[in-house]
Amino acid sequence: MFTRNMNLWASLCFVAILLAGSHPAVAQSGAQPKQQSLYDRLGGLAPISVVVSDFIDALVPDAILNANPAIDAARKRVPAPYLKYHVTAMVCQATGGPCQYHGRGMKESHAHLNITEREWDRMVILFKEVLAKHKVPAKETQELLEIVGSTKADIVVSHQK
Ligand code: HEM
Repeated sequence: MFTRNMNLWASLCFVAILLAGSHPAVAQSGAQPKQQSLYDRLGGLAPISVVVSDFIDALVPDAILNANPAIDAARKRVPAPYLKYHVTAMVCQATGGPCQYHGRGMKESHAHLNITEREWDRMVILFKEVLAKHKVPAKETQELLEIVGSTKADIVVSHQK
């Protein structure tokens, strides 16, 4: 009887060891859960496109930015929906989403605008306002500001304030 119980016990242990080795939940225990992309945390393409649309709508009529005649002229020439399309694709791609940006590089598309530090700072204020309006959380706001900030050296060409 004792021997039979021991055999049963040994068999159960063996099965338990086999399961522990092959069961994904056990095999992965201790591994960090995969961090969601910024794209997913923002809610995907639909909310991103709404935020970008609001951002462009705030930028286009802005008096501080349009005091720069080159920006003002480009605003009158370049359709806002075209900018919304390109900036949405760019943000989607940069945050880890499935889009591909096919527009021009940041240097090439802004060089003729003679954008100053002051105008850059104004753009950042408007961007933050739009993110706050849409209740984008602090962590995601910070990550978006870093993505936008990474383009600054290519966009700001005039360092007069
Ligand atoms: C003070 C800051 C900025 C101003 C005043 C500004 C203004 C403009 C203007 C007027 C154009 C149209 C230029 C033309 O075709 O003649 C343009 C194009 C564009 N901008 Fe900006 N921009 C600024 C910052 C940014 C930032 C931070 C991004 C993205 C992170 C961005 C993304 C784009 C894109 C994707 C295009 C279209 C490129 C293409 O035509 O292929 N811009 N911008």
